[in-house]
Amino acid sequence: MATASSAPTLRRAAFAGTACAVLLLANLGAAAAAEGDPTFTRDIAPILQQKCEACHRAGQMAPMPLVTYEEVRPWARSIRSKVVAREMPPWHIDKTVGIQEFVNDISLSDEQIATIARWVDIGGPRGDPGDMPPPQEWPQGERWRMGDLLGRPPDFTVQSAPWTQPAEGTDQWWQPVVDSGLPEERWIKAVEVRPTPEGRRIVHHGNARWLVEYAVGKPGQLYADDTGQRMPANMQVRFDIHYHSVGEEITDYLTVGLWFYPRGHVPKYEVQHARMGVNTGDLDIPPHTVTKHQGFTPITRPTKILSYQPHMHIRGKAMSLEAVHPDGRVEMLSHVDDFQFNWHINYVYADDVAPLLPPGTLVRVSAWHDNTAANRFNPDPNQWVGWGQRSYDEMYHAHVWYIELEQEDYDAMVRERETAGRANDQ
Ligand code: HEC
Repeated sequence: MATASSAPTLRRAAFAGTACAVLLLANLGAAAAAEGDPTFTRDIAPILQQKCEACHRAGQMAPMPLVTYEEVRPWARSIRSKVVAREMPPWHIDKTVGIQEFVNDISLSDEQIATIARWVDIGGPRGDPGDMPPPQEWPQGERWRMGDLLGRPPDFTVQSAPWTQPAEGTDQWWQPVVDSGLPEERWIKAVEVRPTPEGRRIVHHGNARWLVEYAVGKPGQLYADDTGQRMPANMQVRFDIHYHSVGEEITDYLTVGLWFYPRGHVPKYEVQHARMGVNTGDLDIPPHTVTKHQGFTPITRPTKILSYQPHMHIRGKAMSLEAVHPDGRVEMLSHVDDFQFNWHINYVYADDVAPLLPPGTLVRVSAWHDNTAANRFNPDPNQWVGWGQRSYDEMYHAHVWYIELEQEDYDAMVRERETAGRANDQ
């Protein structure tokens, strides 16, 4: 235990000199913790700034701000249980298998979880106010983050039809279809979506199919050089927005900002979207059972997978994405072991580990549904459930965003990774 082992250190340090002893006494006065034990100002605040404030601050979608000590302390027990159970921050990838590097990873490390748990266990001490990190700076109001990166406002915007969410009421899924009015085909370099400043509190999640996803902390997408998404002239944009009530009537709409490649420039690689593992016919979920279904998608050209987003309804429990290589080797790419239907998380692979799949690979999507009473979201475990659009029906597929590569570029990427791998081994 840290308490027992750090006590002698304290005593030894106290003998070291008067100035030091005074300092230690000041610390001890502030909290009952032993030296080395976590304090809010020194150890907890930096974690919350980095991993929680994106949602847990004034004007955002989470139910309470977690910024100051006064705000955080009453929630200490609840925070402990949510982070230890890995329910917060929302990130549902199994950390024991598959690829673990994602550009949008908001999860806590094991060490951070242990620090939070320990801090709560010793009574949630504040610590030295001088240790408090400067407040985290968050973009204000109407700024576009991609605009900051690219140095110009969006070239084109598309807005969803507005929605008014009542002060009280059930969650709503608003799905307006809007004419983009784009006069000619263009290629997208970057895309970002944002609610109105007021709307940030009620948008749980939203997307403009298949252009961009709005999730707190991940407002958009900037594609690599010579990689882009084709936007046809007059494309219709279908929004899918999840609103929740916050005790006050709020009207919101989403705005999609688009940054294009110069007119006439066709990037070498087109970002494509596919629903993999779709299997409408055989989905069969008897009462009081946990089922597993699988669907296969053949890869016909050298492919790099950019991101993966599982989709199921309320009985969805887990989903894995695997590559069955032409030589028969099965590679686990990603497993979501704690699927939560109300969190739409698109897992975006870090570039140097994004799956590279040769032609002849089969992508295998496995989906588990829990139709037992143990699933707390299950409205009725006595129902026999099949495929359907309503949320009481089920479905499963993996949204996969990918690019197809020229064989020689693919070979070069594979070689590059092998070289990097060998360098790391040395
Ligand atoms: C992506 C947004 C997001 C992030 C990041 C996030 N939360 Fe949450 N949190 C929510 C939302 C939304 C809820 C409300 C319940 C729900 O929708 O799941 C919530 C609920 C909670 C609750 C339960 C509140 C209650 O009413 O009982 C706790 C505790 C919590 N979060 C702590 C944290 C901590 C600690 C972190 C960082 C380590 C964190 N959250 C990161 C969005 C987030």
